Order: sequence, then C-alpha cells, then structure tokens
Amino acid sequence: MTSKIVIIGAGFAGLWAALASARQLEMAGKVDAVEIILIAPEPTLYIRPRLYENDVSTALAPLGDLFALTGVRYVQGTVHKIAVTENVVEYISPNGTASTLLFDRLILASGSKLFLPEAVKGLAEYSFDTDQMEGAIKLDAHLKSLAKLPDSPARNTVVVCGGGFTGVEVASEMPQRLRGILGEGVDVKVVVLERGDSINFMGPKSSSVVQDTLASLGVEALTSQTVASIDADGVTTVAGTRIPSKTVIWTAGMRASSLTAQIPAERDEIGRLFVDQNLKVIGVDDVYATGDTAHVAADDKGHLALMSCQHAMILGKSAGNNAMADLLSLPQTPYSQPTYVTCLALGPWGALFTTGWDREVSLVKEEGYKMKTQINTQLIYPPTNRAEAFAAADPTLQLAV
Ligand SMILES: Cc1cc2nc3c(=O)[nH]c(=O)nc-3n(C[C@H](O)[C@H](O)[C@H](O)COP(=O)(O)OP(=O)(O)OC[C@H]3O[C@@H](n4cnc5c(N)ncnc54)[C@H](O)[C@@H]3O)c2cc1C
Ligand SMILES: *[C@@H]1O[C@H](CO)[C@@H](O)[C@H](O)[C@H]1NC(C)=O
Repeated sequence: MTSKIVIIGAGFAGLWAALASARQLEMAGKVDAVEIILIAPEPTLYIRPRLYENDVSTALAPLGDLFALTGVRYVQGTVHKIAVTENVVEYISPNGTASTLLFDRLILASGSKLFLPEAVKGLAEYSFDTDQMEGAIKLDAHLKSLAKLPDSPARNTVVVCGGGFTGVEVASEMPQRLRGILGEGVDVKVVVLERGDSINFMGPKSSSVVQDTLASLGVEALTSQTVASIDADGVTTVAGTRIPSKTVIWTAGMRASSLTAQIPAERDEIGRLFVDQNLKVIGVDDVYATGDTAHVAADDKGHLALMSCQHAMILGKSAGNNAMADLLSLPQTPYSQPTYVTCLALGPWGALFTTGWDREVSLVKEEGYKMKTQINTQLIYPPTNRAEAFAAADPTLQLAV
C-alpha cells in the first residue's frame, strides 16, 4: 500500500518541503512506496519578499511543471479542517466542493498573514498593505487613481504604519513612486508611524544607516506613535495626532496561518507551533510544521528562525526531508541554519546588506542593491529542472549569499 505525505501550502516552505521529500524518496530508491501530495489554492509561488516593489507583475513563479517533473501530485484547494486524530484534512476545491485527503505524515506550510488588530478602528476597511499579491495590486491601482484627484495634502501623503522591515522597504519607495504618479513638482509627503521610540529593528550596528537614509529620501519617521483609527481621509493616533492621507499602509506585524490553531499543541505569541529540531510538532504524532508556522531555534546560540523567506526555504527542505525519513524509518537531519543575512531595500538609495545576527554592515547603496536584485530575481526563484531541484533540496545546504 502506498503511504501519503500531504503538504499544505505552495509558498517557500511548502515548495521546498515537496522537493526535499521527493529527493529523499528517490535516494531511498522507493518512489512507489510514498505519494507526495501538495495542496494549495494555486500551483504558484508568490514571491512575497518582492511585494514592496513598484511593479509586482513578475513576483510569482508557476509550479505545475516542476511538480510534474519531480513526482509531486498537486491538488488545488483550500484546507479548512485538520483532524489530527483521524489523519485527515478537509478542503474546498475551486468549484466549491468539499473533499478530504488522508495522510500518513502532514507538513503544515500554510505561512503567515498580516495581523490587523481589532483595536484599530477602520483598519480592515480603509488600510492598504503589501502582504499578499492581491493587496499589492490593489495598492498599485489606488496609487495610480490618485492622479485623478484634485491636489490636496491627503492626496499627496502616504502614511506607513509600522517601522519594521516591510514598513521601511515600502516607505522608501514611496516618495519617488508618488512623484512618478502625481508629477515631479508635487509636494509629496511620506510618513512612517512607529510605536517604538526609534526605527531600530536593524540593531545597534545598522539602524543609523536606515534612519539617515529615510531622512535623505524625505521620509519622515514619527516614533512613539500608536495608531487609533484609520478612515478614508487619514489616520489618527492615540495621542490625538491627525494626519490627512488617502493612502494608509498597514505593515505592523504578522501572524501564523490560522490552521495552526487546529493542531492540538502549544503555539507562541505569533501563532507558530513549537516543533522539535526535526520540525515535528511537539506532542503530536505524524504532524510537521515549517516556514512561518514553525517556532524553532535556528542555531545553538539562542537565535530563533524568523518569519522570513530565508528561513522558510531551509525549514521547508528540513521538514520535507525529515517527514519522508520518518515514514521510511531512515535517520533524520535536524534543522540548523547558523548563517543569517539581511538585505533591506531602501528605495533610490539602493539596499543595505548585513551579515550575521548582529547585522554588521556589509554592502550599501548600489552594491547592496545588486545583492538585493540577485536575491529577488534569482536566489529565491524555484529551479526549472529535476536535477537542479533535487541538488538544491539538500536540507544541509546553507543559502549561497
Ligand atoms: C512585503 C514583504 C517583504 C518581505 N521581505 C522579505 C525579505 O526581504 N526577506 C525574507 O527573508 N523574507 C521576507 N518576507 C517574508 C517572507 O515572504 C515570508 O516569511 C515567507 O513567504 C514565508 O514562507 P512560507 O512558505 O512559510 O509562507 P507563504 O509564503 O505565506 O506561503 C503560504 C502558502 O500556503 C498557502 N495556504 C495558506 N492557507 C492555506 C490553506 N488554508 N489551504 C491551503 N493552502 C494554504 C498559501 O496560498 C501559500 O501558497 C517578506 C514578506 C512581505 C509580505
Ligand atoms: C469539483 O472539483 C473536484 C476536483 O477537481 C472534482 O473531483 C469534482 O468532481 C468537482 N465537482 C463538481 C460538482 O464539479
């Protein structure tokens, strides 16, 4: 009888889990023993790290051919129920029909979403975001539509809520992007509202580069600001500051996929499941979690894997490899990712590339931008043939940057 591995999600983690499990199966010489099934709404990798860019039309990659080449069965659907004790998932096909899939091992790779706190009034209704492809396209259409409105401070102002990685990348693009749409002579205003007392997510070694660059681009950083409400004409802070704006972009915080709540196990404050170093959910047999749904140490020095593409790719390879090894009673390879880099796009200035967890400045401006381009157009795109896919799916490879 054929056993089944079911992978939920076709993001960085799900894709690489599928390729790594196929690689492990082939190495074991048992391709007929296990069926690898990947379920996701579309057979497409959406490149979320590129969604801050002006033009997101190429920030995706079709996966159907690659799945066929590597022996992965793709099922189109959205999972709404995971029954761990029955080893079954329930999903809805695009035609609205509900179906089930049985699994011997499950790999949860359903990613994360931007978190919209209910305490912020008008947030879901009036804010924009760059979290998923749909949101990025909606923001782009909205920005272009501003050109038809009469000149006003609200039209000419973009407010970015959240001065973290995504907020800073989006805000840095905005002055130039707005002038491109509204006209070079228009007095555009871009404001970042940050709850903390400074924009310091890059740590002591790199934050001053970020702060100085934002200032040089004409992006105003307002710190110690908590957003109270958003409406069609602007944003109001808890302290009562009002900023007129037709474009309020929310970037403040991510949460793991709501499917994590269906696994009877402990989760962290952002919804990620606690997993062991083989990425099996602690206390739950047969279920692995990976990518943005997993809470796990990246090294033995106390660093946790982040909700990042960089971590999701290797977490995916580890989970796929280990779930298959588990099923075939082969030795597993514990997840370990000591190498860590950061590449932050800063609009027309270029990009800041740092190495290590203390974020030592390594490349700036044009040199950093070349690295960002290489990452965003090559390194994180999927391979196109089977040999390359299996070579790259080795879970012990670190990212080559
Ligand atoms: C604007 C932006 C910029 C970023 N920049 C960077 C960066 O520079 N560097 C970096 O390392 N990271 C960056 N990230 C983070 C990175 O994109 C994520 O950490 C990464 O995408 C996580 O991969 P994942 O596979 O876990 O999840 P995702 O990429 O979110 O994929 C989840 C998959 O699961 C599917 N899915 C979800 N729910 C279901 C369901 N119920 N049923 C079936 N399928 C489901 C989705 O359709 C999708 O295929 C950025 C993110 C954003 C939004
Ligand atoms: C809906 O789609 C599924 C999966 O493709 C298929 O098995 C099923 O027969 C379809 N149902 C209807 C009513 O078309």
